[in-house]
Amino acid sequence: MTRRKLVAGNWKMNGTRADLGELDGIAASALAHPNVDVAVAVPFTLIAAAAERVPTLAIGAEDVHEKPSGAHTGCVSAGMVREAGARFTLSGHSERRADQHETSHDAWAKAMAAHGEGLSVILCCGETEAERDAGRAERVVQAQIEKSVPDNAHADWFTLAYEPRWAIGTGKTPTEEDIASIHAIARAKLRTMIGDAANAIRILYGGSVTGDNAARLLSVDNVDGALVGGASLTAAKFVPIIEAAA
Ligand code: G3P
Repeated sequence: MTRRKLVAGNWKMNGTRADLGELDGIAASALAHPNVDVAVAVPFTLIAAAAERVPTLAIGAEDVHEKPSGAHTGCVSAGMVREAGARFTLSGHSERRADQHETSHDAWAKAMAAHGEGLSVILCCGETEAERDAGRAERVVQAQIEKSVPDNAHADWFTLAYEPRWAIGTGKTPTEEDIASIHAIARAKLRTMIGDAANAIRILYGGSVTGDNAARLLSVDNVDGALVGGASLTAAKFVPIIEAAA
């Protein structure tokens, strides 16, 4: 089955209004390559301004709270980011699992809340270096998928991203064989949960993707796009990744 490639950026805790001009070049590249879907998750503070500035580009949140409203100081709900102009959210990013101690169940609940508000979801999974060294990468990813993929996940609104934690921001990437193996296992796991609908779901690779390695990584079996951190912060670095996916 052919799946449209998705190249998604994740600005993490980076960016102010002064940086929004980078989105102009990214949006222009997205329009120039209509066979690729392009999206950028930005900090909460930039969602509205980004969505207004580049309405053709899918702007998203990096996280949402699982509840719609209430006494949760400092948190932001899915409905709030949707109102601000977000079309999607990340869920279960390894930095939130590590820094905020979020579990796979939390990632599931956030994904469910986001879908309930009409947002698309990019759900992240991936093993630590210690887990890989111990030969547990496959089991860890399978367990994360089992516990965090939202109910009735559908390709219209759901994307999985495999991001080995040890590859994030390190310049290290797994071998093509290792990526192909985890992506195949991830798709097989999805199939046990949602049947043939799993065949249409995109599985992104994330972790030190750059313009230099994107073509190679994107050509791996079952790699349907990339989730990009550092190299999504400027159009100069992100556009070559979009071009590699086109
Ligand atoms: O979510 C994207 C991410 O974690 C990968 O970051 O900087 O290695 O591309 P980076």
